[in-house]
Amino acid sequence: MYVCLCNGISDKSIRAVIRQHQPSSLKELQRFVPVGTQCGKCLRSARQILEHEQGSM
Ligand code: FES
Repeated sequence: MYVCLCNGISDKSIRAVIRQHQPSSLKELQRFVPVGTQCGKCLRSARQILEHEQGSM
């Protein structure tokens, strides 16, 4: 499922990036994948995915 339509980024690819790089914040996540860098509508979902993954690491 696409989380970020502007940049064509799926939840699957966001999870893969989080597992590989273990970013501590949304800002750090954005260094690896450009989620939320256009309209910003996906930021909330991206944050939820990050928090969920951090909880299971
Ligand atoms: Fe992600 Fe627009 S949907 S920046």
